[in-house]
Amino acid sequence: MHRTDNLRRACIAGTGSSVPEKVLTNFDLEKMVDTSDEWIRTRSGIERRHIARDGETTGTLGAEAAQRALDDAGIGPEEVDLILVATITPEMVFPSTACVVQEAIGAVNAGAMDVNACSGFIYALSVADLMVASGKCRHVLVIASETLSRITDWTDRNTCVLFGDGAGAAVVSPSPDETRGILSTYLKSDGSKGEILYLPGGGSRNPTSHETVDQGMHFIKMSGRETFKVAVQAMGDAAVRILKAAGLSGEDVDLMIPHQANMRIIQATAKRIDLPMEKVYVNLNEYGNTSAATIPIALDEARKNGRLKSGDLALFVAFGGGLTWASALVRV
Ligand code: UT7
Repeated sequence: MHRTDNLRRACIAGTGSSVPEKVLTNFDLEKMVDTSDEWIRTRSGIERRHIARDGETTGTLGAEAAQRALDDAGIGPEEVDLILVATITPEMVFPSTACVVQEAIGAVNAGAMDVNACSGFIYALSVADLMVASGKCRHVLVIASETLSRITDWTDRNTCVLFGDGAGAAVVSPSPDETRGILSTYLKSDGSKGEILYLPGGGSRNPTSHETVDQGMHFIKMSGRETFKVAVQAMGDAAVRILKAAGLSGEDVDLMIPHQANMRIIQATAKRIDLPMEKVYVNLNEYGNTSAATIPIALDEARKNGRLKSGDLALFVAFGGGLTWASALVRV
């Protein structure tokens, strides 16, 4: 999606994140299922993940990340026009997690809605970009928050070693400088492969019953190997296509912030655009896969630890359930 010339430029005016204090290491998992630190590290790159405590939810983590992003941008909650929450682990089926965040931060003038996609941060960023660019909104709060621990089967070694909890947020506002901000976004989906990564229970197809619970249908299911293959292809394509459409190449990218699911997927994506790993932000060793939240948590870290500097060109690339995949180019 490219902006047309009659739109103004939107930028990321502030970021924030919130990650639970409680840490679960690979060694802790060795005591829970038949796995090893060595297997998890070499197959995925993950060493630890942060897990929500009782009372910590997608809403509370999201609200904390959102408040930090507002503080960073110097914007009050009453100035927010729209709240978008990307999550696959909502506070409840309805109302939306965005409404939970709206109340928690006191955004009394904002609309609120959720985006259900692991690539949801970029999906929501794309909507926020156009809402601000068109002049419909001035400040949009884009949040991605997940508590994957709540949909994890802690007896399934194929999935329980991979996921973690956390939230990241960005304030999207008019850019003070036309050359900086969100340059373009690219969104794709393939519903035909929805069942390689999904949660079958609790919706209208399989309403919650004793039977669905007995069958573990309230837990995340993933065909790991198949998901891996599609992710490598899709993330590479998303990176190549957005650069090509902008007349750019990997050489122009200062920092790629990819979805943090697997170190080998990240390496393959970097290779597709000839990007050296020094220009790739990786933190999945610390947080595991936090689904939609991986990119905004990494973005917040990279802005605050100096990896992402003013004037840098950042490339975000996401992939996940749906299937959905997406990319964004942002001049900081
Ligand atoms: O958020 C976006 C979506 N998610 C992803 O992008 C994840 C994509 N998939 C992956 O990252 C990888 O496929 C995994 C990390 C999940 C698995 O790595 P893999 O190299 O594809 O391993 P595999 O699934 O092919 O399994 C290899 C072996 C199997 O044993 P056999 O059948 O070869 O005897 C598994 O049973 O490893 C076994 N295994 C484990 N062993 C120790 C699977 N999980 C574990 C485990 N500990 N936790």
